[in-house]
Amino acid sequence: MLIVALYICALVFGASEATNADLIVEDTQPNCPTGWQYGSAFKSCYFMASQSLDWPDAQVACENIGGNLASINSPQEYDFLIRLAYAANPLYMTWIGLHAINNVSPFQWVDGTPSNYSKWLKDQPSDYGGLCVGWRTTYGGDLDGWRNIACESQQQFICKQSAGYCPNGAQSGSSGSVSSSNYPKNYENNLNCLYQIVVQAGLRVNLTFDDFDTETTYDRLYIFDGPNIQSPSLTNLTGHSPKGWNDSIQSSGNSMVLFFHTDTTNTFRGWHANWAAISLNESFCPNGQLSGYTGPLTSPNYPNNYDNRLDCLYRITSTSKLARIRITFDYFYTESCCDKLTLYDGPTIHSPQITTLSGTMPAGTNYTSTGYVMTLLFHTDYSVNYKGFSASWISVA
Ligand SMILES: *[C@@H]1O[C@H](CO)[C@@H](O)[C@H](O)[C@H]1NC(C)=O
Ligand SMILES: *[C@@H]1O[C@H](CO)[C@@H](O)[C@H](O)[C@H]1NC(C)=O
Ligand SMILES: *[C@@H]1O[C@H](CO)[C@@H](O)[C@H](O)[C@H]1NC(C)=O
Ligand SMILES: *[C@@H]1O[C@H](CO)[C@@H](O)[C@H](O)[C@H]1NC(C)=O
Ligand SMILES: *[C@@H]1O[C@H](CO)[C@@H](O)[C@H](O)[C@H]1NC(C)=O
Ligand SMILES: *[C@@H]1O[C@H](CO)[C@@H](O)[C@H](O)[C@H]1NC(C)=O
Repeated sequence: MLIVALYICALVFGASEATNADLIVEDTQPNCPTGWQYGSAFKSCYFMASQSLDWPDAQVACENIGGNLASINSPQEYDFLIRLAYAANPLYMTWIGLHAINNVSPFQWVDGTPSNYSKWLKDQPSDYGGLCVGWRTTYGGDLDGWRNIACESQQQFICKQSAGYCPNGAQSGSSGSVSSSNYPKNYENNLNCLYQIVVQAGLRVNLTFDDFDTETTYDRLYIFDGPNIQSPSLTNLTGHSPKGWNDSIQSSGNSMVLFFHTDTTNTFRGWHANWAAISLNESFCPNGQLSGYTGPLTSPNYPNNYDNRLDCLYRITSTSKLARIRITFDYFYTESCCDKLTLYDGPTIHSPQITTLSGTMPAGTNYTSTGYVMTLLFHTDYSVNYKGFSASWISVA
């Protein structure tokens, strides 16, 4: 699990500005599913199953909850696991992941790990035994160890899977890359990984995937337009090269957050993306610092059409600190889905929102702040543009 602490920086004048200090990401705990035991020295999770199944069915049961029958790869892991196994099942045989594939010796671990460690009981493995390996977990002396028995025997069993670890998710600078853990090897189950990209104030993040391969529906990457997972959603990606997976994604401010969740079973190669800081397109914005008692305010280029991909910020400050700001629109026409003017009751876009406007509005529509400063952000997307807006503002009592 990740512990995410967020400190909003107050009074920042800019589009969703964040600094590296805003987000502290601590990877404090590995991700084992509920009911599994964590072995930190082995970066693994173990599950003691109390059902009795034959070896092939036990392996299927482990796969169904995200693992394999357990491999035991060192004396340390043996010692760790025998305590767990003995506590769960002190008397009887327990299946482990060792078997002779297609009747061919030597015995091998079903999870593919090397079989250079073993703890056979005396005179084992036996030529007269079976092709699957059970563990007698009687704890202590020479009584615990492995023997090969018939795979059809019904036994309890131990499952094992990799513990989930998140890569370091804090990124800053002018470019970089992010990927799922272990990429290009399969990511783990049970991940909840957070990645935060923060670029210099005034710039924005442009993210482009070059690979995307996850379990459809269950393993999903959420991408947010801002410094945390409460920020507006940009897109969610899941599956194998899903539609639009390689379209570049831009933040509207100087930060972007990715959150990767995987469920308890099935893992794939994962994803990899490159990011770079790009300029906010403010070249077409008018000067947004407005002060005095009253004045006009229009969209860029008005009465001609505004441009695409803009983030224009206006801050209106009344000369009288006792006044409030009233803005009255005499014309308003923008693309109704996507080109928006947001009004904030205070000096920044972190101030409370008064309203978000798009589409058309009747002349005379007006809004009033509670204090002597009002902030407005005009955001336009990549296509379709209209005349925008024309308004006037005035200090009122
Ligand atoms: C088994 O082999 C692996 C890799 O070849 C090695 O890392 C590990 O230490 C070995 N284990 C033992 C008990 O020798
Ligand atoms: C984002 O990055 C991609 C890949 O480098 C590039 O093709 C695209 O033009 C960039 N978009 C912007 C708006 O800079
Ligand atoms: C992404 O998923 C979240 C949570 O299910 C949802 O609220 C959000 O609308 C989704 N975003 C998009 C762009 O579909
Ligand atoms: C995006 O991915 C699709 C397949 O999903 C591919 O056909 C297309 O060429 C890719 N576009 C770019 C710019 O890499
Ligand atoms: C900035 O806006 C202008 C006018 O719409 C457009 O031609 C240009 O492509 C934009 N630049 C970026 C980096 O989006
Ligand atoms: C301001 O809006 C109110 C309704 O909210 C309306 O009654 C009033 O006439 C408007 N003021 C102006 C100057 O248009």
